[in-house]
Amino acid sequence: MANWNDHVDHVLIDEAELREIVSRLAAQIDSDYSGEDKNPILVGVLKGSVTFMTDLMRAMKCPAQIDFMRVSSYGNSTVASGNVNIILDLNRPNLPNEDIIVVEDIVDSGRTLKYLVSYLLNKGARSVRTVTLLDKPERREVDFTPEYIGKEIPNAFVIGYGLDYAEKYRTLPYVGVIRSDKI
Ligand code: IMP
Repeated sequence: MANWNDHVDHVLIDEAELREIVSRLAAQIDSDYSGEDKNPILVGVLKGSVTFMTDLMRAMKCPAQIDFMRVSSYGNSTVASGNVNIILDLNRPNLPNEDIIVVEDIVDSGRTLKYLVSYLLNKGARSVRTVTLLDKPERREVDFTPEYIGKEIPNAFVIGYGLDYAEKYRTLPYVGVIRSDKI
């Protein structure tokens, strides 16, 4: 049986550190959304955010709804091209009353989240913030900073904990750097 652990060059963030990161982010969000009328909607960006989102939502104490969007960006598997297309949209009539927190696995060029924030604000959301597990600031191509950042990482291609390379490796329980001969 193929073992995906063997395709990992080294572990960057182990399961214990992931739990610490998620707890810290959940506490930050809880404290910012503590008001009676603040029940945010966590909007996960499919598919990479799924593992992070399911851990984050269970670590949060503030009441939150969940929803999902899916986007595609054309390009090869390791380099996004910058064109963002919405493949699955929110289907909610009452966006103007909603405070949205977009949940992302990793920010690279910044184009996906920058686009989604302005898209949701244009649809009338009351507020839109973003939380990302990982951030690669060295790779930024547009001016964008998430409100909540789990961990800044160097410019390497990472897999696991929801993140994929060519749709593989999402099920690994840690974040690791992929072996260069596997790309
Ligand atoms: P951005 O629009 O360039 O910020 O791209 C963000 C998206 O690129 C993420 O949601 C991931 O799908 C993908 N991505 C960027 N870097 C990595 C990586 O190191 N591993 C896996 N996916 C990545």
